[in-house]
Amino acid sequence: MLICIPDILEWPEIKKIRAAIESGKFLDGKKTAGARARRVKNNQQMDRTTDAAKEVKAAVVAALRRNKTFQRVALPKTIRPPLISRYQVGMNYGLHVDDALMGSKVRERSDISVTVFLNDPGDYEGGELVMSSPYGEQEIKLPAGHAVVYPSSTLHQVAPVTRGERLAAVTWVQSHVRDPARREILYDVYRMRETLAKLHPDGEAADLAFKTHANLLRMWSE
Ligand code: NI
Repeated sequence: MLICIPDILEWPEIKKIRAAIESGKFLDGKKTAGARARRVKNNQQMDRTTDAAKEVKAAVVAALRRNKTFQRVALPKTIRPPLISRYQVGMNYGLHVDDALMGSKVRERSDISVTVFLNDPGDYEGGELVMSSPYGEQEIKLPAGHAVVYPSSTLHQVAPVTRGERLAAVTWVQSHVRDPARREILYDVYRMRETLAKLHPDGEAADLAFKTHANLLRMWSE
C-alpha cells in the first residue's frame, strides 16, 4: 500500500527547515548507501553531524509522530533519523531496494520507507520518485510538506533532475506490524470502525468493528 499524506509539515516549519538546509553542509550521498545501491546513488546528503542537520531531523520526526494518518498507516515502533537529500541538475538515484536492517548500534528493520518533500514540484524538473510494481511504474512528486509512505520491500528510483534542485527528507520505520498486507487490513478496519462509530454510535456493529480492530492489532503486533 502506497499512501500520500498531505501537510505533514506546516509552512513555518518548511521555511525553517529550508533555511537550515541553505546554511548546511552537504556530502556525497554514496556514504550512506549499501554496497549495491552505491553504484546507482548520485545525490548529496546534509552532513548528519551538524547542528543544522540535527534540527531538521528532529522537526521531521516530530511532524511524523503527531500526524494521525501516518500513525494509522505505519504503526511505527521506531523511526530512523531522517537523511536530508539534495538532487541538483544531473543527479539521480537509480533502481534499488532500501537496506533491510539499518543502524550501527541497534539494528532496526526497515518495513516502511518515507519521503517528505521539502520543496515544490515547480522548483525542479524531473526528480520523480518512481515505484516499480507488478502493475507497472508509478511516479510520485508532491508539494512541499507532503509525504509518501510505501513498503521498503519495493524497488524504486529517483529520476534525474533536469532543472533546479529537489530537496527531500527520507526515513524508515520499523512497524509494530511488519507485513504490508496486514497493515493495509488494519488501516481499512480502522476507517470502517470510525465510519460506523459516526453513523451508528450506539449500534452493535461499531462495537464489533472496534473489537475486531483491537484484536487484529493484538494478534499481529510485535
Ligand atoms: Ni531508496
